[in-house]
Amino acid sequence: MTTTTSAASPEPLPFHLTGNFAPVLDELTVHDLEVTGTLPPELTGTYVRNGPNPRNGPSPIWFLGQGMLHGVRLERGRARWYRNRWIDAPTTSNTNIVRHAGKMLALVETAPPVAVSDELETLGAFDFAGGLTRGMTAHPKICPSTGELLFFTYSLQPPFVTYYRADTSGALVQSEPIQVGSPTYMHDFAITKRYALLLDLPVLFNGWRTPMPIQWSDDYGARIGVLPRDGRGDQVRWFPIAPCSIVHTANAYEEGGTIVLDVVRAPRLDGPSQLFRYTLDLERGVAHEAPLDARHVEFPRIDERRTGSAHRYVYALELCDIVNGIPTDCVLRKYDVTTGRCTVHDFGPGRVSGECIFVPRTPGSGEDDGYALCYVHDRDRNTSDLVVLDAADFAAPALATVALPRRVPYGIHGNWFPELG
Ligand SMILES: [Fe+2]
Repeated sequence: MTTTTSAASPEPLPFHLTGNFAPVLDELTVHDLEVTGTLPPELTGTYVRNGPNPRNGPSPIWFLGQGMLHGVRLERGRARWYRNRWIDAPTTSNTNIVRHAGKMLALVETAPPVAVSDELETLGAFDFAGGLTRGMTAHPKICPSTGELLFFTYSLQPPFVTYYRADTSGALVQSEPIQVGSPTYMHDFAITKRYALLLDLPVLFNGWRTPMPIQWSDDYGARIGVLPRDGRGDQVRWFPIAPCSIVHTANAYEEGGTIVLDVVRAPRLDGPSQLFRYTLDLERGVAHEAPLDARHVEFPRIDERRTGSAHRYVYALELCDIVNGIPTDCVLRKYDVTTGRCTVHDFGPGRVSGECIFVPRTPGSGEDDGYALCYVHDRDRNTSDLVVLDAADFAAPALATVALPRRVPYGIHGNWFPELG
């Protein structure tokens, strides 16, 4: 882990306690925020982002900090409120927040979800009526066609991986142990219309040891598992691939006799990650693999109405420069994976974005007919904004910038919840 030295102390501070990674110390509720530009009136709902924000003293590593939600409610052209709330639970629950079957669930992959209210107050642990006895990935997939929630968990104890499916009402209807060789660290997965894709890679989970709970294995191997979404755990078909680390997927879909899977891939645990494509030949049982771009990116997102079916656009954060573990220069990239073209949005010197999400303009609008939303930190002013971009004119100046009443520390994942609250 990289460290930096505080001017006030000779002791080195870990990166996650310095700069805009440092936690904030209180909870705020502020109404009627100042907006520069024009918020689209149809953009009515709440953007909520999760991230570690240790409450009771410094956490030894970044992703062990207690979760904190930062939310902004937009309503018919106005920014009605900002709230930040700790997730008040024994688990860290600091990685993502999703909504399924009317429940808002804060997620961390090592524990069951924690339900929160529309105004970000903690309601309590949620375990699918006792059906979920282990953790739950922070990257479940909601199938746009069926409304099902598909997810998995990994564990130190066998079965090291378990696949789950919940129906539209949120009832757990399937639980399948998956045979893998060791406690593989599986952060994300992907779905197509018929399959779930599992990533069994040479990054192994060793429990919550510090300085890192995961480690690279030179001899574990790497493979992608293709499981029929309603199939038995022993029906996984494995496709060997070159050893690598994949933290996040963008999407997957079926095309002819193949499955296309776009991910962000690094050649090893600590290498720079690139947008990368796997094409699985279902007839011959082989995987073709190739980068889609050479730049160092993370946080790939798509228009999630396309989850499981062919997508054209991928939004990602390019990490142009990192100093002592702190991103000092980032831009957003919008990839057109059908043409290979890439559009950049640069917030300017000292303005660093986090993950960018896509929100469609209307439920039926085209794939990039909508908005890109993200929190942006201004290093010189030490303030944060919620920025709304026109996704179809991605390089253009922001449509609207909402001045937030406080700095929002760098965090992990967020989502848009329409018509919420
Ligand atoms: Fe993630």
